[in-house]
Amino acid sequence: MQDWAERHGVALRPHAKAHKCPEVALRQLALGARGICCQKVSEALPFVAAGVRDIHISNEVVGPAKLALLGELARRADISVCVDHPGNLDALAQAMERAQARVTVLVEVDVGQGRCGVTDPQTVLALARRADAAAGLRFGGLQAYHGSVQHMRTQAERAAVCAEVARAAAAHADALRAAGLACPTITGSGTGSAQFDAASGVFTELQAGSYPFMDADYGDNEWAETLRFEQSLYLLSTVMSTPAAGRVVLDAGLKSSTAECGPPRVAGRAGLTYLAANDEHGVARVEPGAPAPALGEMVRLVPSHVDPTFNLHDSLVVFRDDVVVDLWPVAARGLSR
Ligand SMILES: Cc1ncc(COP(=O)(O)O)c(C=O)c1O
Repeated sequence: MQDWAERHGVALRPHAKAHKCPEVALRQLALGARGICCQKVSEALPFVAAGVRDIHISNEVVGPAKLALLGELARRADISVCVDHPGNLDALAQAMERAQARVTVLVEVDVGQGRCGVTDPQTVLALARRADAAAGLRFGGLQAYHGSVQHMRTQAERAAVCAEVARAAAAHADALRAAGLACPTITGSGTGSAQFDAASGVFTELQAGSYPFMDADYGDNEWAETLRFEQSLYLLSTVMSTPAAGRVVLDAGLKSSTAECGPPRVAGRAGLTYLAANDEHGVARVEPGAPAPALGEMVRLVPSHVDPTFNLHDSLVVFRDDVVVDLWPVAARGLSR
């Protein structure tokens, strides 16, 4: 992904909400990433503690306690944050005054996702001007993230939506420039859309997060030869019961792997299908004629959705060629304020 970004003259700012692991972020920075993204202000704490000095909170931060925490962080690192409401902008300015700190503000624009963000160019301009005028704030540009495009299965579908996203983001930036405001940053993108967003000529940085690990949901996308990623994240489960012919029970359920994108998939073992996740159990079917795994046997699973699955685990067991080489704490696990 770093190479892809560099080839297209854009920066990579990997999303650390995917892994919540400073050891991973430090490696991404060593490979050339500009900084990282976090989605919540508390999530950024272990990364700042690990020495990361450039963090974009790709989200709105609302409420006095969170804004006070943001002020503290902004005294220790270069922090940017999204805004889509003038009241939040004023509260942000007050928090920075109290903390004697400074943050960069990116106005979030809704480019079709239907989540946060403003759509009207006049509102974007008003927020940008208000940010520029406030002591302790600096207007830095736009965030234009579209989430649902990431998992559109075909290349053609993603290309078409990304073209719309780029058009909408460029129109907002043009309106700002026409009004005399510089718009140095246009940030957004994810693993599924980076192929198109990098080449759009509109984005200045990519926020892809899942790409170092991947998951079963991303595995179902159609990938280009030029930009595809391997599955590296697995969950090692144990057969804890073999109660009936054709059925085994694994010790990894919803508390080990989330299921909002479907149950995890069994890796490297034909004829075994993970059917249903209970809290602590995973019920799997052994297809007729397939060898049944024995009690105590270990089965590798591919999580269906990387981000919330990392959030369930204390550490990442790092292996190369089936040899464990390190153990990395998922230090931001549970930090979702
Ligand atoms: C604002 C924002 N940026 C970037 C990403 C990264 O996306 P992915 O993990 O699909 O690469 C996300 C994911 O949800 C996001 O919400």
